[in-house]
Amino acid sequence: MPSIKIRFAKKEDCEWLWKLVNDTEVRKASFSKDYIPWKKHLEWFKSKLKDPNIIIYIGLDNRGKPFGQVRFEIDSREAEISVSIDKEYRGKGYGSRLIKKTCLSLFASTEIETISANIRIGNEKSIKSFKKVGFQEIRNKNTNESKKNCMQLRK
Ligand SMILES: CC(C)(COP(=O)(O)OP(=O)(O)OC[C@H]1O[C@@H](n2cnc3c(N)ncnc32)[C@H](O)[C@@H]1OP(=O)(O)O)[C@@H](O)C(=O)NCCC(=O)NCCS
Repeated sequence: MPSIKIRFAKKEDCEWLWKLVNDTEVRKASFSKDYIPWKKHLEWFKSKLKDPNIIIYIGLDNRGKPFGQVRFEIDSREAEISVSIDKEYRGKGYGSRLIKKTCLSLFASTEIETISANIRIGNEKSIKSFKKVGFQEIRNKNTNESKKNCMQLRK
């Protein structure tokens, strides 16, 4: 399997991320399924780049081409992760490798102790990718959240 690299997202990634976020499977996996118009995405992305509690990593293939993104939303010593992979790269191990590399980088560079993933029930591919990295399923404390599988990774 070819090597991957990661870097922080920058403003030039905006359009590529917009296409990725509107990919059919990415919308299906999300908790808000609507198409995201360009203007809305642009505003959202600008605010996220400025936000000290948001870290967005871009995964690069062995030619330096972006293949996926991981976003962490930080709240004190916890972070919530979300991931999406370009459809050309899915099912080839890129997702789990990107999750692993970005989580290790986050643990190494911050005080974060726990990373949580909220995955829609039925997204078995995603659950499998997180499990491969060492995430464990945790029981849902909130009964209203029955649409989610919660998984956690500890430092
Ligand atoms: C979910 C996602 C991040 C996974 O990344 P990926 O690169 O496709 O996944 P990987 O190749 O690393 O691993 C997928 C694993 O699931 C398995 N898998 C593939 N399709 C599957 C399916 N329909 N059901 C169950 N397992 C499946 C693969 O065999 C692989 O496991 P293995 O290595 O043990 O064989 C990626 O597919 C994606 O971006 N999907 C759309 C958006 C999304 O669902 N994001 C996650 C939201 S929580």
